[in-house]
Amino acid sequence: MINIKTPREIELMRVAGEIVGETHKYLIPYLKPGITTKKIDSLARDYIIKKGATPSCYHYDGYPGNICISINDEVVHGIASERKLCDGDIVTLDICACYKGYHGDSAWTYPVGNISDDKKYLLEHTEKSLYEGLSVIKAGVHIGDIGEAVQKYAESHNLGVVKELVGHGVGNHLHEDPDVPNYGRKNTGPVLKEGMVIAVEPMINFGTADVYLMDDDWTVVTADGLPSAHFEHTVLITKDGYEILTKR
Ligand code: MF3
Ligand code: CO
Repeated sequence: MINIKTPREIELMRVAGEIVGETHKYLIPYLKPGITTKKIDSLARDYIIKKGATPSCYHYDGYPGNICISINDEVVHGIASERKLCDGDIVTLDICACYKGYHGDSAWTYPVGNISDDKKYLLEHTEKSLYEGLSVIKAGVHIGDIGEAVQKYAESHNLGVVKELVGHGVGNHLHEDPDVPNYGRKNTGPVLKEGMVIAVEPMINFGTADVYLMDDDWTVVTADGLPSAHFEHTVLITKDGYEILTKR
């Protein structure tokens, strides 16, 4: 079942989303060579708590971190460790916060120092694929319309669309109905209605779309070891379009 949010719920989700956006903004200056991912994770936790929210990822299905930090070929759900960021890395921060029972969810991939032209290409076009997907959203369109827009854009730029992981509804659970795949066909899947909230989150690979799960049972990596990027916003569906709840 896809929940329609009440005005009060939407207000709380705006606050949750704002906290997520602010946490991103707060962390960007720290994404320099030499910082450990553990340090980034604890800075994120402290900031989210200072803002009156809690990190939704913490202990979600036993996840050990406060946010997900994925480097280079890591697609999603990387776990903070003593690993240091290096010049030339790309790093995805996937940040979820819960405010008074309601969640916000936004991932963004950042360059560390000077990155290769291939990585620049991947970041530019993955971000654009997110906005391509968002651009079709309004009450009355199907979930498949979003997936088709993301897939068309990414594949026409010779990038690999990860199929095993999808976007999702967001509300008083971090993951709700519906699934929001980054592939599909127009006019298929559930119809969007005013007051629904979904996370649109293309995960796009420079090379093959194939991924596998590492031995830690969390980190998903690309099969060919080439880099992957991930851009995600939580959005409210409106009559004529959408409102980004996780903007900075
Ligand atoms: N934004 C991530 C997702 O939608 C949040 C994962 S929380 C985790 O999958 F605990 F599963 F890592
Ligand atoms: Co998500």
